[in-house]
Amino acid sequence: TERGNQPGTDGLQNEKEMVPTGVKIQLIDMLSETGLPVIEATSFVSSKWVPQMADHTEVLQAIHRSSHVRYPVLTPNMHGFQDAVAAGATEVAVFGSASETFSRKNINCSIDESILRFEEVICTAKQRQIPVRGYVSCALGCPYEGPIESTKVAEVVKRLYELGCYEVSLGDTIGVGTPGSMAKMLHSVKKEVPSSALAVHCHDTYGQALANILTALQMGICTVDSSVAGLGGCPYAQGASGNVSTEDVLYMLHGMGIKTGVDLSKVIEAGDFICKALNRKTNSKVAQARGDNSMHCRMKKINT
Ligand code: HMG
Ligand code: MG
Repeated sequence: TERGNQPGTDGLQNEKEMVPTGVKIQLIDMLSETGLPVIEATSFVSSKWVPQMADHTEVLQAIHRSSHVRYPVLTPNMHGFQDAVAAGATEVAVFGSASETFSRKNINCSIDESILRFEEVICTAKQRQIPVRGYVSCALGCPYEGPIESTKVAEVVKRLYELGCYEVSLGDTIGVGTPGSMAKMLHSVKKEVPSSALAVHCHDTYGQALANILTALQMGICTVDSSVAGLGGCPYAQGASGNVSTEDVLYMLHGMGIKTGVDLSKVIEAGDFICKALNRKTNSKVAQARGDNSMHCRMKKINT
Protein backbone atom coordinates (compact mmCIF):
# COMPACT_ATOMS: atom_id res chain seq x y z
CA THR A 1 0.00 0.00 0.00
CA GLU A 2 1.09 3.47 -0.60
CA ARG A 3 0.65 5.57 2.45
CA GLY A 4 0.05 8.84 0.95
CA ASN A 5 0.61 12.42 0.68
CA GLN A 6 2.22 15.23 2.49
CA PRO A 7 0.45 18.35 1.34
CA GLY A 8 0.48 19.98 4.75
CA THR A 9 3.93 19.32 5.99
CA ASP A 10 6.53 18.25 3.49
CA GLY A 11 4.48 19.46 0.57
CA LEU A 12 3.86 23.06 1.54
CA GLN A 13 5.91 23.84 4.64
CA ASN A 14 8.84 24.91 2.50
CA GLU A 15 6.93 27.45 0.41
CA LYS A 16 8.27 30.98 0.95
CA GLU A 17 5.05 32.72 -0.10
CA MET A 18 2.04 32.04 2.09
CA VAL A 19 -0.20 29.55 0.34
CA PRO A 20 -3.82 30.67 0.78
CA THR A 21 -5.69 28.49 3.28
CA GLY A 22 -8.43 27.85 0.70
CA VAL A 23 -5.88 26.40 -1.71
CA LYS A 24 -4.56 24.02 0.97
CA ILE A 25 -8.11 22.89 1.75
CA GLN A 26 -8.98 22.34 -1.89
CA LEU A 27 -5.78 20.37 -2.45
CA ILE A 28 -6.52 18.06 0.48
CA ASP A 29 -10.13 17.67 -0.66
CA MET A 30 -8.96 16.71 -4.16
CA LEU A 31 -6.49 14.19 -2.72
CA SER A 32 -9.25 12.73 -0.54
CA GLU A 33 -11.02 11.65 -3.74
CA THR A 34 -8.03 9.79 -5.20
CA GLY A 35 -8.09 6.64 -3.09
CA LEU A 36 -5.01 7.53 -1.04
CA PRO A 37 -5.43 6.01 2.43
CA VAL A 38 -3.55 8.69 4.38
CA ILE A 39 -3.08 12.43 3.88
CA GLU A 40 -0.86 14.33 6.26
CA ALA A 41 -2.96 17.43 6.56
CA THR A 42 -0.94 20.03 8.44
CA SER A 43 1.48 20.64 11.25
CA PHE A 44 1.00 21.95 14.80
CA VAL A 45 4.41 23.52 15.08
CA SER A 46 5.29 27.02 16.20
CA SER A 47 4.21 29.65 13.68
CA LYS A 48 7.34 31.62 14.63
CA TRP A 49 9.38 28.70 13.30
CA VAL A 50 7.24 27.73 10.32
CA PRO A 51 4.80 30.55 9.42
CA GLN A 52 3.36 28.55 6.50
CA MET A 53 1.64 26.18 8.96
CA ALA A 54 0.00 28.90 11.11
CA ASP A 55 -3.43 28.10 9.65
CA HIS A 56 -3.34 24.48 10.88
CA THR A 57 -6.59 24.69 12.86
CA GLU A 58 -8.53 26.32 10.03
CA VAL A 59 -7.27 23.74 7.52
CA LEU A 60 -8.02 20.75 9.71
CA GLN A 61 -11.50 22.00 10.48
CA ALA A 62 -12.48 22.95 6.93
CA ILE A 63 -11.40 19.88 4.97
CA HIS A 64 -14.06 17.37 3.99
CA ARG A 65 -12.90 14.24 5.72
CA SER A 66 -13.53 11.04 3.83
CA SER A 67 -14.26 7.98 5.94
CA HIS A 68 -11.69 6.09 3.83
CA VAL A 69 -8.83 8.46 4.63
CA ARG A 70 -6.79 9.15 7.76
CA TYR A 71 -5.53 12.69 8.30
CA PRO A 72 -2.54 12.74 10.68
CA VAL A 73 -0.91 16.02 11.69
CA LEU A 74 2.59 16.74 13.00
CA THR A 75 2.90 17.44 16.73
CA PRO A 76 6.44 18.01 18.07
CA ASN A 77 5.43 18.47 21.72
CA MET A 78 2.50 18.63 24.17
CA HIS A 79 1.69 22.18 23.12
CA GLY A 80 1.23 21.03 19.52
CA PHE A 81 -0.59 17.88 20.59
CA GLN A 82 -3.14 19.81 22.67
CA ASP A 83 -3.77 22.31 19.86
CA ALA A 84 -4.15 19.44 17.40
CA VAL A 85 -6.66 17.59 19.56
CA ALA A 86 -8.61 20.83 20.13
CA ALA A 87 -8.75 21.26 16.36
CA GLY A 88 -10.15 17.75 15.93
CA ALA A 89 -7.07 15.70 15.02
CA THR A 90 -7.66 11.95 15.16
CA GLU A 91 -4.09 10.89 14.42
CA VAL A 92 -0.78 12.62 15.13
CA ALA A 93 2.89 12.17 14.31
CA VAL A 94 6.00 12.96 16.32
CA PHE A 95 9.22 13.68 14.49
CA GLY A 96 12.68 12.91 15.81
CA SER A 97 16.07 12.54 14.20
CA ALA A 98 19.00 10.14 14.06
CA SER A 99 21.31 13.17 13.93
CA GLU A 100 21.97 15.17 17.09
CA THR A 101 22.64 18.41 15.18
CA PHE A 102 19.56 18.11 13.00
CA SER A 103 17.43 17.45 16.08
CA ARG A 104 18.62 20.74 17.59
CA LYS A 105 18.13 22.70 14.36
CA ASN A 106 14.70 21.24 13.60
CA ILE A 107 13.01 20.94 16.99
CA ASN A 108 15.42 22.84 19.22
CA CYS A 109 16.37 19.99 21.55
CA SER A 110 18.68 16.98 21.78
CA ILE A 111 17.60 13.49 20.75
CA ASP A 112 17.23 12.44 24.40
CA GLU A 113 15.12 15.51 25.22
CA SER A 114 12.96 14.85 22.17
CA ILE A 115 12.29 11.29 23.31
CA LEU A 116 11.09 12.62 26.67
CA ARG A 117 8.73 15.06 24.91
CA PHE A 118 7.44 12.31 22.62
CA GLU A 119 6.88 9.99 25.55
CA GLU A 120 4.49 12.50 27.08
CA VAL A 121 2.68 13.01 23.77
CA ILE A 122 2.42 9.26 23.12
CA CYS A 123 1.17 8.48 26.65
CA THR A 124 -1.51 11.16 26.49
CA ALA A 125 -2.48 10.10 22.96
CA LYS A 126 -2.84 6.49 24.10
CA GLN A 127 -5.28 7.50 26.83
CA ARG A 128 -7.39 9.18 24.17
CA GLN A 129 -6.94 6.32 21.71
CA ILE A 130 -5.21 8.56 19.20
CA PRO A 131 -2.68 6.65 17.09
CA VAL A 132 0.82 8.15 16.90
CA ARG A 133 3.17 7.74 14.00
CA GLY A 134 6.90 8.45 14.35
CA TYR A 135 9.47 9.90 11.99
CA VAL A 136 13.21 9.50 12.18
CA SER A 137 14.90 12.14 10.04
CA CYS A 138 18.41 11.90 8.60
CA ALA A 139 18.15 8.11 8.38
CA LEU A 140 20.54 8.12 5.40
CA GLY A 141 22.51 11.28 6.07
CA CYS A 142 22.40 14.68 7.75
CA PRO A 143 22.87 18.13 6.21
CA TYR A 144 25.13 19.06 9.13
CA GLU A 145 26.83 15.82 10.20
CA GLY A 146 27.05 13.89 6.92
CA PRO A 147 26.65 10.12 7.02
CA ILE A 148 24.80 8.68 10.04
CA GLU A 149 25.60 5.22 11.42
CA SER A 150 22.79 2.78 10.67
CA THR A 151 23.06 1.47 14.23
CA LYS A 152 22.24 4.99 15.48
CA VAL A 153 19.17 5.08 13.22
CA ALA A 154 18.09 1.66 14.49
CA GLU A 155 18.46 2.82 18.09
CA VAL A 156 16.20 5.88 17.64
CA VAL A 157 13.63 3.88 15.62
CA LYS A 158 13.53 1.26 18.36
CA ARG A 159 13.01 3.90 21.04
CA LEU A 160 10.03 5.42 19.18
CA TYR A 161 8.53 2.02 18.48
CA GLU A 162 8.89 0.93 22.10
CA LEU A 163 7.29 4.17 23.30
CA GLY A 164 4.21 3.20 21.30
CA CYS A 165 4.45 4.61 17.77
CA TYR A 166 2.45 2.16 15.64
CA GLU A 167 4.76 2.87 12.72
CA VAL A 168 8.07 4.63 12.22
CA SER A 169 8.85 6.37 8.94
CA LEU A 170 12.52 6.46 7.94
CA GLY A 171 13.25 9.88 6.50
CA ASP A 172 15.95 10.42 3.93
CA THR A 173 15.51 14.10 4.65
CA ILE A 174 18.10 15.36 2.15
CA GLY A 175 17.77 12.56 -0.39
CA VAL A 176 21.41 11.47 -0.28
CA GLY A 177 20.67 7.75 0.13
CA THR A 178 21.26 5.12 -2.51
CA PRO A 179 20.01 1.53 -2.76
CA GLY A 180 23.33 0.61 -1.10
CA SER A 181 22.91 2.78 1.98
CA MET A 182 19.16 2.09 2.13
CA ALA A 183 19.75 -1.67 2.24
CA LYS A 184 22.42 -1.31 4.92
CA MET A 185 20.27 0.95 7.09
CA LEU A 186 17.16 -1.25 6.73
CA HIS A 187 19.19 -4.30 7.60
CA SER A 188 20.12 -2.69 10.95
CA VAL A 189 16.64 -1.30 11.65
CA LYS A 190 14.86 -4.58 10.87
CA LYS A 191 16.88 -6.27 13.61
CA GLU A 192 15.05 -4.04 16.12
CA VAL A 193 11.58 -3.37 14.65
CA PRO A 194 9.32 -5.53 12.43
CA SER A 195 9.03 -4.48 8.77
CA SER A 196 5.26 -4.17 9.17
CA ALA A 197 5.87 -1.20 11.50
CA LEU A 198 8.25 0.59 9.13
CA ALA A 199 7.76 3.07 6.31
CA VAL A 200 10.14 4.89 3.99
CA HIS A 201 10.08 8.61 3.38
CA CYS A 202 12.38 9.40 0.48
CA HIS A 203 13.28 12.79 -0.88
CA ASP A 204 14.44 12.90 -4.48
CA THR A 205 17.23 15.46 -4.17
CA TYR A 206 19.83 13.18 -5.79
CA GLY A 207 17.35 11.39 -8.07
CA GLN A 208 17.60 8.18 -6.05
CA ALA A 209 14.15 8.05 -4.48
CA LEU A 210 12.44 5.45 -6.70
CA ALA A 211 15.48 3.17 -6.61
CA ASN A 212 15.58 3.50 -2.83
CA ILE A 213 11.86 2.76 -2.54
CA LEU A 214 12.21 -0.31 -4.74
CA THR A 215 15.02 -1.51 -2.48
CA ALA A 216 12.80 -1.02 0.57
CA LEU A 217 9.90 -2.90 -1.10
CA GLN A 218 12.23 -5.78 -1.85
CA MET A 219 13.21 -5.81 1.82
CA GLY A 220 9.60 -6.13 2.96
CA ILE A 221 8.57 -2.51 3.61
CA CYS A 222 5.02 -1.88 2.36
CA THR A 223 4.39 1.74 3.33
CA VAL A 224 5.72 4.63 1.28
CA ASP A 225 5.40 8.36 1.93
CA SER A 226 5.25 10.67 -1.05
CA SER A 227 4.17 14.15 -2.04
CA VAL A 228 1.86 15.20 -4.86
CA ALA A 229 3.85 16.82 -7.70
CA GLY A 230 6.96 16.12 -5.62
CA LEU A 231 6.52 19.42 -3.81
CA GLY A 232 8.24 20.42 -0.65
CA GLY A 233 11.32 19.90 1.40
CA CYS A 234 12.31 20.68 4.93
CA PRO A 235 12.90 24.24 6.15
CA TYR A 236 15.77 23.02 8.35
CA ALA A 237 17.60 21.07 5.64
CA GLN A 238 18.90 23.52 3.07
CA GLY A 239 18.71 22.31 -0.51
CA ALA A 240 16.37 19.44 0.37
CA SER A 241 13.99 19.02 -2.53
CA GLY A 242 10.54 17.53 -2.26
CA ASN A 243 9.54 14.03 -1.42
CA VAL A 244 9.41 11.61 -4.27
CA SER A 245 6.27 12.47 -6.24
CA THR A 246 3.15 10.43 -5.54
CA GLU A 247 2.48 10.18 -9.27
CA ASP A 248 5.87 8.54 -9.97
CA VAL A 249 5.58 6.09 -7.07
CA LEU A 250 2.09 5.06 -8.20
CA TYR A 251 3.25 4.55 -11.77
CA MET A 252 6.04 2.28 -10.56
CA LEU A 253 3.84 0.30 -8.15
CA HIS A 254 1.08 -0.19 -10.72
CA GLY A 255 3.67 -1.28 -13.28
CA MET A 256 4.84 -3.92 -10.80
CA GLY A 257 1.28 -5.22 -10.49
CA ILE A 258 0.89 -3.85 -6.96
CA LYS A 259 -2.68 -2.81 -6.20
CA THR A 260 -2.83 0.55 -4.46
CA GLY A 261 -6.47 1.49 -4.97
CA VAL A 262 -5.29 4.96 -5.95
CA ASP A 263 -6.42 6.66 -9.15
CA LEU A 264 -3.27 8.03 -10.78
CA SER A 265 -5.18 10.41 -13.10
CA LYS A 266 -6.91 12.03 -10.13
CA VAL A 267 -3.58 12.50 -8.36
CA ILE A 268 -2.20 14.11 -11.53
CA GLU A 269 -5.20 16.47 -11.51
CA ALA A 270 -4.53 17.41 -7.89
CA GLY A 271 -0.87 17.98 -8.78
CA ASP A 272 -1.89 20.14 -11.69
CA PHE A 273 -4.14 22.19 -9.43
CA ILE A 274 -1.48 22.90 -6.81
CA CYS A 275 1.24 23.61 -9.39
CA LYS A 276 -1.00 26.16 -11.10
CA ALA A 277 -1.86 27.71 -7.73
CA LEU A 278 1.84 27.97 -6.82
CA ASN A 279 2.78 28.95 -10.35
CA ARG A 280 5.36 26.23 -10.74
CA LYS A 281 6.24 23.18 -12.77
CA THR A 282 5.53 19.73 -11.40
CA ASN A 283 8.48 17.65 -10.19
CA SER A 284 6.68 14.48 -11.26
CA LYS A 285 8.16 12.90 -14.38
CA VAL A 286 4.92 10.98 -14.91
CA ALA A 287 2.79 14.14 -14.76
CA GLN A 288 5.21 15.84 -17.16
CA ALA A 289 5.05 12.91 -19.58
CA ARG A 290 1.26 12.71 -19.39
CA GLY A 291 1.04 16.43 -20.07
CA ASP A 292 3.37 16.13 -23.06
CA ASN A 293 1.52 13.05 -24.27
CA SER A 294 -1.86 14.71 -24.29
CA MET A 295 -0.27 17.59 -26.17
CA HIS A 296 1.25 15.09 -28.56
CA CYS A 297 -2.11 13.39 -29.11
CA ARG A 298 -3.81 16.71 -29.72
CA MET A 299 -1.16 17.63 -32.27
CA LYS A 300 -1.63 14.34 -34.05
CA LYS A 301 -5.36 14.95 -34.26
CA ILE A 302 -4.81 18.34 -35.77
CA ASN A 303 -2.37 16.90 -38.30
CA THR A 304 -4.63 14.09 -39.48
P1 HMG B 1 10.91 26.09 21.05
O1 HMG B 1 11.03 27.53 20.68
O2 HMG B 1 12.11 25.34 21.51
O3 HMG B 1 9.72 25.86 22.10
O4 HMG B 1 10.28 25.35 19.82
P2 HMG B 1 9.57 26.23 23.61
O5 HMG B 1 8.93 25.07 24.26
O6 HMG B 1 10.86 26.76 24.18
O7 HMG B 1 8.50 27.43 23.55
C1 HMG B 1 8.79 28.71 22.97
C2 HMG B 1 7.51 29.37 22.52
O8 HMG B 1 6.91 28.59 21.48
C3 HMG B 1 6.44 29.48 23.61
O9 HMG B 1 5.70 30.64 23.33
C4 HMG B 1 5.60 28.26 23.38
O10 HMG B 1 4.31 28.41 23.87
C5 HMG B 1 5.60 28.18 21.87
P3 HMG B 1 5.97 32.03 24.07
O11 HMG B 1 5.83 31.70 25.53
O12 HMG B 1 7.38 32.43 23.71
O13 HMG B 1 4.94 32.94 23.51
N1 HMG B 1 5.37 26.81 21.37
C6 HMG B 1 4.49 26.49 20.39
N2 HMG B 1 3.64 27.24 19.67
C7 HMG B 1 2.88 26.59 18.76
N3 HMG B 1 2.94 25.24 18.54
C8 HMG B 1 3.77 24.47 19.25
C9 HMG B 1 4.61 25.10 20.23
N4 HMG B 1 5.54 24.62 21.06
C10 HMG B 1 5.99 25.67 21.75
N5 HMG B 1 3.81 23.15 19.02
C11 HMG B 1 9.30 23.60 18.54
C12 HMG B 1 10.12 23.95 19.77
C13 HMG B 1 9.39 22.11 18.33
C14 HMG B 1 7.87 24.02 18.74
C15 HMG B 1 9.89 24.36 17.35
O14 HMG B 1 11.24 24.02 17.23
C16 HMG B 1 9.21 24.07 16.04
O15 HMG B 1 8.05 24.47 15.85
N6 HMG B 1 9.88 23.41 15.10
C17 HMG B 1 9.25 23.10 13.84
C18 HMG B 1 10.11 22.27 13.02
C19 HMG B 1 9.39 21.84 11.78
O16 HMG B 1 8.21 22.09 11.57
N7 HMG B 1 10.15 21.16 10.91
C20 HMG B 1 9.61 20.64 9.71
C21 HMG B 1 8.84 19.37 9.93
S1 HMG B 1 9.85 17.93 10.22
C22 HMG B 1 10.24 17.39 8.66
O17 HMG B 1 9.97 18.01 7.69
C23 HMG B 1 10.89 16.05 8.53
C24 HMG B 1 9.99 15.00 7.92
O18 HMG B 1 9.51 15.41 6.64
C25 HMG B 1 10.75 13.67 7.77
C26 HMG B 1 12.03 13.81 6.94
O19 HMG B 1 11.97 14.20 5.76
O20 HMG B 1 13.07 13.54 7.53
C27 HMG B 1 8.76 14.77 8.79
MG1 MG C 1 10.40 14.94 4.68
